[in-house]
Amino acid sequence: MAEPEPKSEQTETHQQHRAQRTTVILIIVLAITAGAISWYGIRPGNEMVVTSKSSVISSNKEVETIRKIPLASIAVDEIRLPHFDPIMPLGPHRDVFMTNCITCHSPRLVIDQPHFPQEKWEEIVNKMVVTFGGHVYKKDQPKIVEYLVSIRGKTESAQKKLQRP
Ligand code: HEC
Repeated sequence: MAEPEPKSEQTETHQQHRAQRTTVILIIVLAITAGAISWYGIRPGNEMVVTSKSSVISSNKEVETIRKIPLASIAVDEIRLPHFDPIMPLGPHRDVFMTNCITCHSPRLVIDQPHFPQEKWEEIVNKMVVTFGGHVYKKDQPKIVEYLVSIRGKTESAQKKLQRP
């Protein structure tokens, strides 16, 4: 019986060459595409037309301005909404409060509380540390309580502090 003829070496090298050529062509095409994208960028190709009317007081005329803004330049991936924090009133150890108590939430959460007696503020500061894991040095905790009592305590001066006119 005739043995199956082994593939000739020539056919094998020929196939290898073809595979190599295809790979090289693919790499070149990919490189050109990537190069073109990074050079020209992905452009939506259209613009937003913004017209605004404004009157020129001196000549009493209305002027219309037309601006064309390429959409690519106004594409946003982040929107920041305005954030207003109350200005915390002055009081003893205000700086200690500001460094420790506004990392997790706004000071608004504090300023919106009713006037509490000192024990209640101690309890709250303790809760922030023990229950919520706030990093506040032990030595700073009474200072924060002192500040809180001065702005939101049951004392007369604290009651006056945040009164609206
Ligand atoms: C580790 C994060 C963290 C830190 C730091 C932190 N808080 Fe809080 N705080 C919280 C959380 C969580 C709540 C609960 C929020 C809620 O109920 O939606 C809260 C709520 C509060 C409230 C609302 C009343 C209450 O009892 O829940 C007050 C007042 C308050 N914090 C004051 C403070 C003060 C004063 C400090 C500084 C000593 C402080 N927080 C630091 C996490 C923190």
